[in-house]
Amino acid sequence: MAKIVVTGKLFPEVLARLEAEGTVVSWQQEGRMPQERLLEEIADAEGLLCTGVAVNEALLAAAPQLKVVANTMVGYDNIDVPACTAKGVAVSNTPGVLVEATADMAFGLLLSSARRIHEGWAYAKAGRWTKSLGQCGGDLGLGCDLYGKTLGIVGMGDIGSAAARRALASGMRIIYHNRRPRADEAKFEASYRSFDALLAEADFVLVLSPLTAQTRGMFNAEAFGKMKKGAYFINAARGPIVVTADLVAALKSGQLAYAAMDVTDPEPLPVDHELYQMDNVLITPHIASAGRQTREAMMNLAVDNLLAALHGQPMPTCLNPEVFK
Ligand code: DGY
Repeated sequence: MAKIVVTGKLFPEVLARLEAEGTVVSWQQEGRMPQERLLEEIADAEGLLCTGVAVNEALLAAAPQLKVVANTMVGYDNIDVPACTAKGVAVSNTPGVLVEATADMAFGLLLSSARRIHEGWAYAKAGRWTKSLGQCGGDLGLGCDLYGKTLGIVGMGDIGSAAARRALASGMRIIYHNRRPRADEAKFEASYRSFDALLAEADFVLVLSPLTAQTRGMFNAEAFGKMKKGAYFINAARGPIVVTADLVAALKSGQLAYAAMDVTDPEPLPVDHELYQMDNVLITPHIASAGRQTREAMMNLAVDNLLAALHGQPMPTCLNPEVFK
């Protein structure tokens, strides 16, 4: 039986699928398998099922028998795919199954920051709701309406278009930026803009791009400076797309009204980071896909890919199918 290394916790029924087909070494505690243990275990493994673990030249060098890496995430910036391909190692991710959950979260961050849902709860919970807030919002203040506002989506893939559907239902106007316009943009009542034009026009900028060499640091002081003064910035993609220090400066100066993020750089953000001290920030701990059914579907898709590769069958969502040619 092939040895399979699993670097993080899986639902028992999903783990059982792997255990029926291979000799599984898995990390079933919180967090991830420590790097030292991973390097030890991978030495004679044929399969690796991982979540966000760095799969690079160093790991591949320690894994001479490795045939497949199944990432339980759609984003695969943690994996050096060309290096895997060069070594004949197949790689898969989990597209599709987390689209709606992630779009819910992206739109939820936008909605909560604009309408201050989490702030209203903190206010009430702290015992500050002792009298009517009145028409002008009292000491809680007022939020920002969505209806009639322009949402600029940077990275209009499946998740972006699902977020656009949610924003349309709230009466927002949609513009987007991608490497190239989508042929089906009319379906989302969305219009293409260059990156700079989108920044200048959007009241809310939502980032959903993958992290690549091109997108790393794309939201820096220059980009924030091109945004409308008082715009909202939402990131549900990857933290390093943003230069954190530049974001802090844009929030402090009032160039940005608000930032809402499910991802940060670094991640986790250190507990004493100044972003936690700011009132115009909402941060969630990378939970956009963290719905029970979605996580189950992501795990099962990763297992489908891994077992298919080990059995010499076509992988459902392989990123480098050329390794089988
Ligand atoms: C992904 O799948 O890339 C998400 O970021 C995980 O939540």
